[in-house]
Amino acid sequence: MKTEKDKFYITTSIPYLNAPPHLGFALEALQADVVARHSRLRDKDVFFLSGTDEHGAKIARAAGEAQKTPKEFVDGLAVVFQDLLKKLNISNDDFIRTSDKERHWPGAQLLWKKLAEAGDIYKSFYKGLYCVGHEAFITEKDMEGNVCAIHKKPPEAIEEENYFFKLSKYTNRLLEAISKEDMKILPSFRKEETLNMLKEIGDVSFSRPSKDIAWGVPVPSDATQTMYVWCDALANYITALGYGESFGSPTSTGNRTSKFERFWPADIHVVGKDIMKFHTIFWPAMLMSAGLSLPKIIFVHGWVNVKGEKMSKSLGNVIDPIPLIEKYGSEAVRFYLAHETSVFGDSDYSDKHFSEIYSGLLVNGLGNLLARTLKMISLYPAISKPEEGALARYPIKKNLEFLTTGEKKRWSFEQASPSFLVDNVLWLAYQKAMAAYEISQAIKNIWIYLGRLDEYIEDYKLYKMVKSQPEEAKVVLWHLAYSLASVAWMIKPFMPETADKILLSLGVEPTSREEWKEFSAKEFAHLFPRIQ
Ligand code: MSP
Repeated sequence: MKTEKDKFYITTSIPYLNAPPHLGFALEALQADVVARHSRLRDKDVFFLSGTDEHGAKIARAAGEAQKTPKEFVDGLAVVFQDLLKKLNISNDDFIRTSDKERHWPGAQLLWKKLAEAGDIYKSFYKGLYCVGHEAFITEKDMEGNVCAIHKKPPEAIEEENYFFKLSKYTNRLLEAISKEDMKILPSFRKEETLNMLKEIGDVSFSRPSKDIAWGVPVPSDATQTMYVWCDALANYITALGYGESFGSPTSTGNRTSKFERFWPADIHVVGKDIMKFHTIFWPAMLMSAGLSLPKIIFVHGWVNVKGEKMSKSLGNVIDPIPLIEKYGSEAVRFYLAHETSVFGDSDYSDKHFSEIYSGLLVNGLGNLLARTLKMISLYPAISKPEEGALARYPIKKNLEFLTTGEKKRWSFEQASPSFLVDNVLWLAYQKAMAAYEISQAIKNIWIYLGRLDEYIEDYKLYKMVKSQPEEAKVVLWHLAYSLASVAWMIKPFMPETADKILLSLGVEPTSREEWKEFSAKEFAHLFPRIQ
């Protein structure tokens, strides 16, 4: 019987097109990509979506400053974001733009209609402080004196007639879904934060007068109002699957609807902490109102800061990932983001730190270890698998400490050989970390192990051994080659090109993980060039 693969639908958030991309969004895309690639390797039928959030006052204003129409402005920037994804080797299957009138608007409008049919949309007056930077109304607690605490600009006092969404109607159902983890929030402290926020949630403004903001999706059957960001931007996760296109349309082929049926609900939305509430409260409430299933996981990552401060245009501390990729290569940037940034906490970026990590862990770390190993393997036609007894003769000499959920744990494997360790300890630690989306822990353990392999060469003075005891040295080399090949498989989701290069240089197939019988040194260019 043919068994269908499990589906796996993963999304990034959709960044605002008011400025070029920065390292923070590159981090989000990388995290989602690692999870997507890992899921593909586990034989899931993955659909990975990214896109751009192209409407609203902030973007219309930025377009004006650039002396462009909003459409010209977003068309130009959307290409820059797509280019970043390509340069960073992000494997997204699709890219949705909210200004796309064919793909996105009908679904966003259908979603609005469903909420209205459920009796959850009403008109009322709204009085509040509008921050253009936030693209949202803010309250006193978001202010520092007369200015917005984040954007350092005074908000505008606005009174206007808007449509509202009856978010408060869903408080109890949300509490239940989140507490019972029908929709899981990662990490768990964000779940607690959401549950606290729910205690004081009111209804939410859902539209703005078109006379003030025309750059957006029109509210169905009321041309005087433009949809506010929620129903427009959040809907991208379903419009990209064809929601709205085939529903009730006599001309539709139905293909897109089947995509929706196949992939919705999302298995995981990857978002930053600043937009958590929209994804853990607004979005599921809207889905409940529309009678749609909830996403399974909301993954809330932390921020990359610079000297402890959030990157922002006004502070002039924005790190553009593209020159970094051009200088060091995408694999190095991917490694840095995965290894050096905390998944769920905040991290600090600096050029100096990047360059230290590049030379310390990539050039002198993995790169050098592979080069040394290959040089010694090249003294032999091939290194075949030794018998078990021989393998046990060359254990690692010092204890290994791997990371487990934050703390260090000692594993007493003093007498274990590298190939035993890689299969039985590192692999399990890796699987565990990946299953918990602790991607930084997963890759850190790999580098801890690689550090020990460097010492392993010294433990047995292998460069002398290949001359004095060439047959015995083959056993030690087998351990090294086997470990490097296994590590290559583990780093595939993180550094897909490096992984393949390692496997090819060791003379094994990079596309399928067979039981390796022998390794040989193949022609090889250094993985990571030295960069000044
Ligand atoms: N357009 C909204 C999202 C709508 S989703 C339906 C938005 N855009 S954004 O451009 O401001 O941010 C896009 C993503 O990048 C968000 O997940 C945000 O948290 C993330 N980041 C923005 N700055 C960041 C850092 N400095 N560090 C890490 N991620 C950051 O919000």
